[in-house]
Amino acid sequence: MPQRAKITSIGTYVPPRLLTNADLERLVDTSDEWIRTRTGISERHRVAPGMATSDMAVEAASDCLARRGLDPSEVEAILVATVTPDMLFPSTACLVQHKLGAPQCWGFDVLAACSGFLYALATGASLIAAGTHRRVLVIGSDTMTSIIDYTDRATCVLFGDGAGAVLLEPAAPGEEFGLLDYHHQIEGVGGPSLYMPAGGSHHPATHETVDRREHFVHQEGQAVFKYAVLKMYEICKLLLDRNGLQASQLDCFIPHQANLRIIQSTGERLGLDPKRTLINIHKYGNTTAATIPLAMRDAQEQGLLHPNALVLLAAVGAGYTSGAQLLRWAI
Ligand code: ACO
Repeated sequence: MPQRAKITSIGTYVPPRLLTNADLERLVDTSDEWIRTRTGISERHRVAPGMATSDMAVEAASDCLARRGLDPSEVEAILVATVTPDMLFPSTACLVQHKLGAPQCWGFDVLAACSGFLYALATGASLIAAGTHRRVLVIGSDTMTSIIDYTDRATCVLFGDGAGAVLLEPAAPGEEFGLLDYHHQIEGVGGPSLYMPAGGSHHPATHETVDRREHFVHQEGQAVFKYAVLKMYEICKLLLDRNGLQASQLDCFIPHQANLRIIQSTGERLGLDPKRTLINIHKYGNTTAATIPLAMRDAQEQGLLHPNALVLLAAVGAGYTSGAQLLRWAI
């Protein structure tokens, strides 16, 4: 029987600077009413100049470790989910390890866009399950405002910056807490619907790629929306059915926060109690790899999480990537 991994602490960070719908009204042809009704977002946070993804990750990781009363020297692996690394290499995990001062660990980045945190969580849980690691930091951190075109009204209203970190440790013998099951899927056919065209080996940076604004997020919003609405429901239903569960048995549903309409549609089709669905998109927007740990923290503060709570996590993102996970909450 593999060793089950449980979350023993959550830490978060959002930069204090706000980017409100009123701010965006001054940048592009949009309105607070359009943004709120089409996306559910009222405001998002934005880093101050000079702050990068690793800096937010370190803040979240420090918060996470402090809440558990641990020193960074006790961390054995650091996994960072992000699509906005400080630079292509070294990995953000290496930068975080150094800034955090965690001398006894290894780690790497996970690139799976909005599903990144879930993929990193499952990978970290596998390190625990293998019996080779006892303390794994899993971080989701994204500085989305660094790759957003603030002349494109269809994408610039959606995204914000933030970071969240969780600590994974082995469940004690006989404990039922931790990651129970997961289903992940990638479908590369979705690549052209949501991507950054240049800056990689296919189209290295040139004056022309900059002039064509190809270092920003390009999104076919409707195509992504349609895929996400179907896929969020499909993977959640598959996981519930596979575990012989009804949606009514869930204590908390924590979905990726990309669009309020996607979350509500998923909840309605699954038959979930809206009061048990964590929604915080209004205050953060889509922070990509950070949405789920930020939502975990809010769920904790709202009293939706308690020891033994049955929790469903789900995300769909660029790639396409998707994932759903079932957890028995430990703290
Ligand atoms: N303000 C006002 N009007 C706008 C805005 C805006 N900010 N943006 C678009 N519009 C207009 C369009 O130009 C269009 O006008 P037209 O009818 O005159 O052509 C109209 O609004 C409707 O546009 P749609 O694209 O059909 O709007 P939709 O209802 O689909 O909402 C949105 C757009 C919010 C982007 C939606 O498609 C969406 O949320 N898509 C999914 C986003 C997502 O989940 N991304 C995945 C995760 S991200 C990741 O993995 C990194």
